[in-house]
Amino acid sequence: MAAPETISIAQIGYGYWGTNLARNAAANPSLSLDLICDVSAENRARAAAAHPTARILADGAEVFADATIDAVIVVTPASTHAEICRRAIEAGKHVLVTKPLATTVADAAAVAALAAQHGRTLLIDHTFLYTPAVAFLKQALARGDLGKPLYYDSVRTGLGIFKSDVNIVDDLAIHDIAILEHLFEELPATVSATAAASFNGLRESLAYITLTYRDGLVAHLAAHWLSPLKQRQVVIAGDARMLAWDDSRVGERIRIFDSGITRTESAVVPGRADVTYRNGEVTVPALGDTEALAAEMADFVACIRTGSTPRASGQSGVRVMQIVAAAHRSAAQGGAPAAIEG
Ligand SMILES: NC(=O)c1ccc[n+]([C@@H]2O[C@H](COP(=O)([O-])OP(=O)(O)OC[C@H]3O[C@@H](n4cnc5c(N)ncnc54)[C@H](O)[C@@H]3O)[C@@H](O)[C@H]2O)c1
Repeated sequence: MAAPETISIAQIGYGYWGTNLARNAAANPSLSLDLICDVSAENRARAAAAHPTARILADGAEVFADATIDAVIVVTPASTHAEICRRAIEAGKHVLVTKPLATTVADAAAVAALAAQHGRTLLIDHTFLYTPAVAFLKQALARGDLGKPLYYDSVRTGLGIFKSDVNIVDDLAIHDIAILEHLFEELPATVSATAAASFNGLRESLAYITLTYRDGLVAHLAAHWLSPLKQRQVVIAGDARMLAWDDSRVGERIRIFDSGITRTESAVVPGRADVTYRNGEVTVPALGDTEALAAEMADFVACIRTGSTPRASGQSGVRVMQIVAAAHRSAAQGGAPAAIEG
């Protein structure tokens, strides 16, 4: 079936994040945001005010039944994603679903398989994959700018929005898990996680996750919903250069340090390791300022039109969920290393 000139799109869920996705869908000239559905009357009113030409509905069933809708954006709570995606795909719609794809690996795999079976595009809103920063990281690693990658160290904190159906791993650490999956295209050998619920009755709001890879790469992720500091900091060190990515430093988000150590024949200073230090230039690459969600919408449109695979594909969403699930298993066993399953 030829893809239509303008792709008619419906969005299910118009809460905090849905506002951003709808704004970017409406701004894409190839998409027509024709329908918005939310169970909350307050959020339907907000949607109607922001998107006066879209039909506003309370019941998702009407979205699936409407043959004029080509694609659906799903921005509801995580526990509803798998079922809404299943119904949308079975109704013949292409789907863009925000993270996590589902709350279990089995559900994620079932949705990805269903999309493949029906020949529908399935794009997971792993937003960071569409940032200029991650595009740069991917190219820098492919060029070998850092040498052999040694570690990826991330701190992602703030006063986060506590969720009732997912914890800090599914909600916040998943950003780094998706970035790692995208950058290194490899599943970790082991995942060790410590997660803590700081308030009785609320989901875990703090996690420290360590991922080890077969060639020696180690990743460490610290994620908190309960911090006075909003931090979005990643350091990637290679044996040639090191790179710091601070997403709050607008205009110089990435800095590359020509720094490192070199082995010497023998210790330069008695009692110290046989290394010399290099503290070279710091360079700041120009990244551009494309909004990630605009790039994501453009990828969605291109994939619907050509049948190509999205950067954040259903299959990558399943691999991300496999890593998330291993982190949950490890945390349940007091941090014992867990292998990837499923
Ligand atoms: N990529 C990112 O950086 C990012 C950031 C924030 C949230 N998110 C994701 O977006 C999703 C939503 O999070 P949020 O913070 O916007 O939550 P939210 O609670 O603000 O919004 C969810 C909306 O879905 C509606 N809803 C719930 N069930 C529904 C149903 N069955 N049919 C129709 N509407 C329904 C709710 O009424 C609400 O308006 C989550 O999966 C979250 O992980 C992604």
